[in-house]
Amino acid sequence: MARTFFVGGNFKANGSIKSIQGILDNLNGAKLDPNTEVVIAPPSIFLLTTAEKASNGVKVSAQNVFHKPDGAWTGELTTKMLVEHGIEWVILGHSERRTLFHETSELVADKTKAALDAGLNVILCIGETLEERDAGKTLDVCCSQLKAVADKIQDWSKVVIAYEPVWAIGTGKVATTEQAQEAHEGIRQWLSSSVSADVAAATRILYGGSVTEKNCKDLATQPDIDGFLVGGASLKPAFVDIINSKL
Ligand code: G3P
Repeated sequence: MARTFFVGGNFKANGSIKSIQGILDNLNGAKLDPNTEVVIAPPSIFLLTTAEKASNGVKVSAQNVFHKPDGAWTGELTTKMLVEHGIEWVILGHSERRTLFHETSELVADKTKAALDAGLNVILCIGETLEERDAGKTLDVCCSQLKAVADKIQDWSKVVIAYEPVWAIGTGKVATTEQAQEAHEGIRQWLSSSVSADVAAATRILYGGSVTEKNCKDLATQPDIDGFLVGGASLKPAFVDIINSKL
């Protein structure tokens, strides 16, 4: 089954009115591969203006969402608010949220379920630390993060998985194409044996961690790498080259 190549830009807590306008001008005016799905995730305060101004097929994602209905959750956004404002995607389970904000795999699973129930698409992030990789636990960690979600959802058609080894995020230390392919293949095998062969064949698995315009083309040749979730480089004009890495 052909999986549409997907490139996400996670701006994290970066950007100003001016710089985000600059990113949008660049994307809106660029020649983007029509066969690649592009989704950008600005900080929440910029979601609405980004959604209003993004064109050229670029969709917008939140970087997080709360899993409960509207209520007394100071500082949070609910799924209903995103949907009402035409935001179609949300990133969940990013390692920065797991680590800095103590989000457990259980909570990530609850958020994923709530987002899907509300009709949102989810970029579900998983990945191991360097210590876990060195201990040979890469797939155990990734699959247990996935299992928490698999225990709570049935329909994977609106889920894109982002494999982001923690040691490669923002470090300039990209996984080798072999390391990335090996992890992606293992994740797909787990999906096949633990969810279904159809879900394994259809679900996009993105690589994230120090992706740049220089290393994207090699990574994109791998059979189980269906795109990227890009942090730092998504803030730069060369993000267009990453979007076009299959051209
Ligand atoms: O979600 C994207 C990510 O964590 C990778 O960040 O800056 O290493 O591309 P970066």
